[in-house]
Amino acid sequence: MTLEKIHCAIESLKGHKVMIIGDLMLDHYMIGGVDRISPEAPVPVVRVESETSLLGGAGNVARNIASLGGEALLVATVGHDEAGDTLEELCNEAQLTTKLIRDPSRPTTKKTRIIASNQQVVRVDQELVRPLQDREFEELFKYLQSIINDFPVIILSDYGKGFICREFIDRFMDMIKECDRRPLVLVDPKTVNYDLYKNVDLLTPNTKEAGEGAGILVADRETVIRAGEALFERLDCKNLLITMGGDGMALFEGTESIRHIPTFARKVFDVTGAGDTVIATIALALSAGMDLLTACTLANYAAGVVVGQVGAATASSSDLNDAVDELPEPDVSIWKE
Ligand SMILES: Nc1ncnc2c1ncn2[C@@H]1O[C@H](COP(=O)(O)OP(=O)(O)OP(=O)(O)O)[C@@H](O)[C@H]1O
Ligand SMILES: [Mg+2]
Repeated sequence: MTLEKIHCAIESLKGHKVMIIGDLMLDHYMIGGVDRISPEAPVPVVRVESETSLLGGAGNVARNIASLGGEALLVATVGHDEAGDTLEELCNEAQLTTKLIRDPSRPTTKKTRIIASNQQVVRVDQELVRPLQDREFEELFKYLQSIINDFPVIILSDYGKGFICREFIDRFMDMIKECDRRPLVLVDPKTVNYDLYKNVDLLTPNTKEAGEGAGILVADRETVIRAGEALFERLDCKNLLITMGGDGMALFEGTESIRHIPTFARKVFDVTGAGDTVIATIALALSAGMDLLTACTLANYAAGVVVGQVGAATASSSDLNDAVDELPEPDVSIWKE
């Protein structure tokens, strides 16, 4: 692909729509210092100096889409609490359109990290892993039914908090069959839920998750290919992208065409959120009508930008354009055809 074509592809992402459905959470950080041990128990006393809250889970995926100029609709559940209000504000700030279903019987999923002198001391999770209750479930599907035809691409963002469950998947897959044009369904899998992802259009596990889904240890090209083939066998998915961290990604378009996209040697600061960036970029590119290889090539640049930043960062289209100009063209190789 020529440089000019890649720049055009980045420009054409703007304004396209992606729906993200799944587990939304609040990433909360309390940062401070320690100068004594508690008299109550053998633990440090952290003096909090600053606090920040960020969109996590499905919210981070949605934020990546908005950051590239796409229109993201986030559909998720929160509790009737302060963390739920904070999430709503953060979604507004990130210019996401949302349908947040308020469930009074659950807390908003919140992960608090307490960091003292640059070290995480403890993480505190507030969550209730459980599917939606009947009333909220009905509200969800009534809403989905009313807008589903406007979205060519949907990401199911499963962080194992119960939203993506058997009952949801069965009804969702039945619903999209009835659409004027069936939307593409993309999933970043959670190992315990593999059996829910039958017949989806694209799965994006990392090597560890691919190995867990296939029941083999993945370490090199041969085992990536074997794990991929086993996942097709198990799930009958249409396409598969195994992300391999610093070793790039392997794109399976069915089991007969396998290509590898390498990464570039870059300074890596923080790999958190690279997976979210990958699925978000691919979804938006597919929504803009690109082919899967072009979509993955853009996602590889976007993930490269994000791992070079601190925290769960996102890439903007100008970051992507800069990366394309600075880096050599990726040398896509054929693993099987
Ligand atoms: N060290 C690295 N150097 C360059 N690119 C990287 C590096 N690590 C990750 N990437 C990019 O990010 C993509 C996804 O990374 P990875 O396979 O680690 O996903 P993941 O484990 O799902 O990430 P997450 O921590 O978000 O769950 C890779 O395919 C690659 O494009
Ligand atoms: Mg991941």
